[in-house]
Amino acid sequence: MFRGFANVWSPVIEASRLKDKPLPVVLAGESIVLFRGDGGRIGALVDRCPHRGVALSLGRVCDDGHLECAFHGWRFDVSGANRHVPLNPDAKRDQLGATALPVRQIGDLIWVFTAPGIEAPFEPLAPEGLTAPGLMRTYIERQWDCHWTRAMENMLDSPHLPFVHKRTIGRPLLRLMTPQSSMEITWQDTANGGRASASLDGADNGAYLEFFQPNMMALNIPIPGKHLRIHALVIPTEEGRTRLMVAGSRDFATAAILNPWFSWMNGKIADEDRAVVESSGRSETPEPGSERSVATDRATLRFRKYYYDSLRESEAGAPTGPG
Ligand code: FES
Ligand SMILES: [Fe+2]
Repeated sequence: MFRGFANVWSPVIEASRLKDKPLPVVLAGESIVLFRGDGGRIGALVDRCPHRGVALSLGRVCDDGHLECAFHGWRFDVSGANRHVPLNPDAKRDQLGATALPVRQIGDLIWVFTAPGIEAPFEPLAPEGLTAPGLMRTYIERQWDCHWTRAMENMLDSPHLPFVHKRTIGRPLLRLMTPQSSMEITWQDTANGGRASASLDGADNGAYLEFFQPNMMALNIPIPGKHLRIHALVIPTEEGRTRLMVAGSRDFATAAILNPWFSWMNGKIADEDRAVVESSGRSETPEPGSERSVATDRATLRFRKYYYDSLRESEAGAPTGPG
């Protein structure tokens, strides 16, 4: 399961989308059902009934918080344990459970650990902008026809800004660029992945981005004394498809009436990337060394190395902890 994306935590959806009905989501090719059990606890089960393989998301959440399969009414709790097999009082329920996945709510998002039937060996590490109190946050979503790795490395790529984003976040760079300009990418390994910044002709404007393994980027936009960040959450769904969530966080202009403007801007930036990223088709990003690369590819090459060293080859191997 979860080939190329096993044993990692990933955000999957905004928690506000999970109400009193079971909610199906697809993560890295696997169908998962989310539901709220007793006391509001969240359950994440492989969306397949152990009885006859029916999608559990077709069922309902009963008053006691158990998820009831639509076909023959078997009931499961948030741990996947079988709590009822109708018409079969002697059924060995302890052998008839569904497969659970570790799940957490962190900030506004539901996260799932991509290994079935185990306790998570470590906790998710979320960017500060998604969790810190006192910030106003906005979320938008896009569906892209591409392998998630293509979208992820795009988010770590600074030298595309003055081209793809020449009308938005790349405009300041474009203004300063000359035909002789030189950009230097600095990369620093961190506990969660890495931190990259780009200086143009020796001038660093203070912007930096952080990579949160496996599939998140937080861009820090420097405004003195203020917090303004754009987070890209690159969620693999069906094979060759990606759900991009862009979360903005800010500690100024916090009136909710301004949220549509921030969302619109984040959507516009994401939409600028779309054609370029989708043109790579549904294939995953190539191994480092198999394309022509230059010095400004430093951050994206680090991502490729991480992907091939830690994710692509690990299959169902050891959990890929942060750092
Ligand atoms: S298929 Fe789910 S209870 Fe029979
Ligand atoms: Fe971009």
